[in-house]
Amino acid sequence: MSSSLDIDFYETEDPIWNPALLTIPVPGIRKMVNLAATMEDVIHLSIGQPDMPAPAHVVERTIDAMRAGQTGYTMDAGLPELLEALAGYYGQRCERRLVPENVMVTTGATEALYLALTATSAPGREFIVPDPAFMLYAPMIRLNGGVVRPIPLRAENGYQLDPQAVIDAIGPNTYAIVLNSPSNPTGTLYPRETIEAIVTEAAYRGVYVISDEVYDHLIYDDQEYPSVLSCCSDLDHVIVISSFSKTFSMAGMRVGWLIASQAAIKKLRRYHMFTTTVANTPCQWAGVAALRGPRTSVEQMRTTYQARRDRLVELVAETPHLQGYRPEGAFYMFPQLPAGTNGTNVALRMLREIGVCTIAGDTFGDANPNALRISYSTSLAQIEAAFERIIPWMKKQDFG
Ligand SMILES: Cc1ncc(COP(=O)(O)O)c(C=O)c1O
Repeated sequence: MSSSLDIDFYETEDPIWNPALLTIPVPGIRKMVNLAATMEDVIHLSIGQPDMPAPAHVVERTIDAMRAGQTGYTMDAGLPELLEALAGYYGQRCERRLVPENVMVTTGATEALYLALTATSAPGREFIVPDPAFMLYAPMIRLNGGVVRPIPLRAENGYQLDPQAVIDAIGPNTYAIVLNSPSNPTGTLYPRETIEAIVTEAAYRGVYVISDEVYDHLIYDDQEYPSVLSCCSDLDHVIVISSFSKTFSMAGMRVGWLIASQAAIKKLRRYHMFTTTVANTPCQWAGVAALRGPRTSVEQMRTTYQARRDRLVELVAETPHLQGYRPEGAFYMFPQLPAGTNGTNVALRMLREIGVCTIAGDTFGDANPNALRISYSTSLAQIEAAFERIIPWMKKQDFG
């Protein structure tokens, strides 16, 4: 049986593009946000970026850099001052010696993920990925023929990852394990024991751990953050990815990075030169200012998000049909509707009928089509207003 896509593909007179592009789905987020844009009075619980401005000193440094004529390319690995600042910052935070040659600056964490996943993926290689996960990982792996091996996670235990399930999934074709703690879309923070168990076994079996740590400063209840960099004995099998986007509200400034062994960084530099050349130069200077300057805004942001998280947990608990939990990081929650409920239909109906925009679970994998991603990167007032609509609406539903 051939799908309509196949027919279009073979019968069209248009030039044939790379069929690998078919691995990239139409993002569920775009569909919802585009529909919401045609409506009035929509409350967005769909936002994937901080709702706070970048720190003033960071903005000033960008403008100063431009005024000072720092508008050319940097060296290919990144601005030397930023490489130095990142190596020092991670070295101190993770208590290990890092040199600038362990770092490469990219156009956001997105480019870092693209380079790491497409440089390692190849036909037949398997990548273990928790499900649900940030929606970029699976297509980037499949683009180059790699196979995604999902590990299903559930709301009942706060979407925690069982390290033994990951270890059991490692087989002869496993090339890498993708981790993202705290997670988008669940906000789940993996404890040190989980990360250590996975990283140790992966190193022993010669499997890479590719760790997306973009939410590493959005951690609540004074918990420590176990970065993969603080859980590995050497860097031979780890690639850590992060960016300024979330921690410093700099998503549009597009500066991220990879931390890995010097040998891996050497290979990735070649690839990076042929992908985006270098990251945005004035914003790399802004990054130096972010790392070296005061962190008061980061702490304020964390406190604000934690208060919102606390209130959201209460509101979800008061909502019929939604099973919540207590996310420990990032700014998302991924509550489940009763088993068998189609989350896409519910998200669409909630948008159309009460003007509340959430993102359906199937955007993030196959394991939880009955979930909704709720982002609390919006004011407490908006969160309250959204649930004043959601709770009475849910009371009227019968998902049985
Ligand atoms: C888990 C995760 N990784 C990476 C990114 C992309 O970050 P950047 O803006 O640095 O490209 C996001 C953005 O939403 C994310 O949620």
